[in-house]
Amino acid sequence: MQHQTEAHVFIFPLPLQGPVNCMLKLAEILSLHRIKVTFLNTDYIHQRLIRHTDALIRFRSYPNFRFLTVPDGLPEENPRTGAEVGNLLESMDASAVPIFREMLLTAETPVTCLIADGIFTFATDVAAEIGAALLYFDTVSPCGFWTYLCLPKLIETGEVPFKDDNLDEMITNAPGMEGIIRRRDLPSFCRTNDINDRIIQLVLREGEHIPLAQGLIFNTFHHLEAPILAQLRTICPNIYALGPLHAHLKARLASQEARPTTSNSIWEEDGSCVSWLDQQPSKSVVYVSIGSLAVMTRDQMCEIWHGLVNSGVRFLWVRRPGSVTGYSDETGIPSPEELTQGTEERGCIVRWAPQEEVLAHPAVGGFLTHSGWNSTLESMVEGKPMICWPNFVDQQVNSRYVEAVWKVGLDMKDSCDRIVVEKMVREVMESRKDEFLKGAEVVAESARAAVNPGGSSFEDMDRLIEEIKTMKIATK
Ligand code: UDX
Repeated sequence: MQHQTEAHVFIFPLPLQGPVNCMLKLAEILSLHRIKVTFLNTDYIHQRLIRHTDALIRFRSYPNFRFLTVPDGLPEENPRTGAEVGNLLESMDASAVPIFREMLLTAETPVTCLIADGIFTFATDVAAEIGAALLYFDTVSPCGFWTYLCLPKLIETGEVPFKDDNLDEMITNAPGMEGIIRRRDLPSFCRTNDINDRIIQLVLREGEHIPLAQGLIFNTFHHLEAPILAQLRTICPNIYALGPLHAHLKARLASQEARPTTSNSIWEEDGSCVSWLDQQPSKSVVYVSIGSLAVMTRDQMCEIWHGLVNSGVRFLWVRRPGSVTGYSDETGIPSPEELTQGTEERGCIVRWAPQEEVLAHPAVGGFLTHSGWNSTLESMVEGKPMICWPNFVDQQVNSRYVEAVWKVGLDMKDSCDRIVVEKMVREVMESRKDEFLKGAEVVAESARAAVNPGGSSFEDMDRLIEEIKTMKIATK
């Protein structure tokens, strides 16, 4: 028997800046449509989110929205960078999952729909136990995620682990990616000789659970990734392509003349870089950021720094606290004279920036990025071409698609050399500037169209909202 009850969506993101940011955008859109939403953060994320943003006040304007928190079980001082994700997941299994399950079983208003990151394989059992629908939402790129799902086939056919060190060998067992993906473009965890590696095993386990969901949510849009979405439908026919979510939320708030949304940063944003941008000529600045998890060595920082200064192009560089191993700006190396002068004349360095505002700024003409998916979409929406220096997971795939498929930038994968940095910055910001800006504007227009009435993402969101509102609890 099924009975109608109030829809209650419980959202559980992977507790990292990128996934939390984009799931909060979805949560705000559902709240805007008066759906009851519970959003589960870890204590670590939540403390920083409410310290550095007005998220608490913002979400208070939605009476049916509430935050809940769970411990992630890691010591407070754990840096929670990319290399720590395996430990974070293991620690959460022990500390967060039992509490999460109890929350769902004892929810005052029964949960009718669980939206969780696909890596949380425990969600399938918990959703079945409470009779709620489960929608997996992997916030990485669909093109990156599709390679995760192809991993069993790649292992079975011997394409992973790689047979030799020729990284330019084409991959043939990733349907829909023929002629595009080389070995070097696969997610970083494929560069292993041991398929019992912890991350490989996590990805294989995730791939076994994805088909068990009633639907898959992606932060992308049809025009950008139709061939990949068609492949994903062979795994789960019910796909909601809702992105770019940050632009989608902005569009829906504007259409309801609601107050614009604000940041979801877990570091303090240094707005002085916007005032610096205000002084720079149009499209003259390359913005540099490697997201919230990636780290670089001090030598890599110097190579990028020399490349930027030698290019003669203005640059705005985010140096996130802890993002350079063995270096901090406070106690860092005194930069060599030629770097100091070039930086004083043409550079601005901050610890964390209001990135959406920066990418929208007319002075920014390009983005040297690690190819995190939120950053990639944010750059696309603003029509800013990219220089991609991927670090791990889906970033390798994203950087290849940016250059080879979407043609909105250059792939600097597997190199961090001042000559290459200088060359690529000059190519995107000077010699091929008009070509890249033109191509990027076409993609920007299709992204903006997707999230407005009549657009594919707008329609998928309306379908999701309608289906959530009519979901029923499957009583025992
Ligand atoms: C993680 C993974 O690393 C990435 O591969 C995956 O695609 C998404 O999850 P992250 O590395 O943090 O994400 O990168 P990204 O997806 O780009 O998210 C970073 C977010 O932080 C973006 O929304 C960006 O706007 C924001 N940001 C970044 C700031 O607000 N200020 C900054 O200075 C830098």
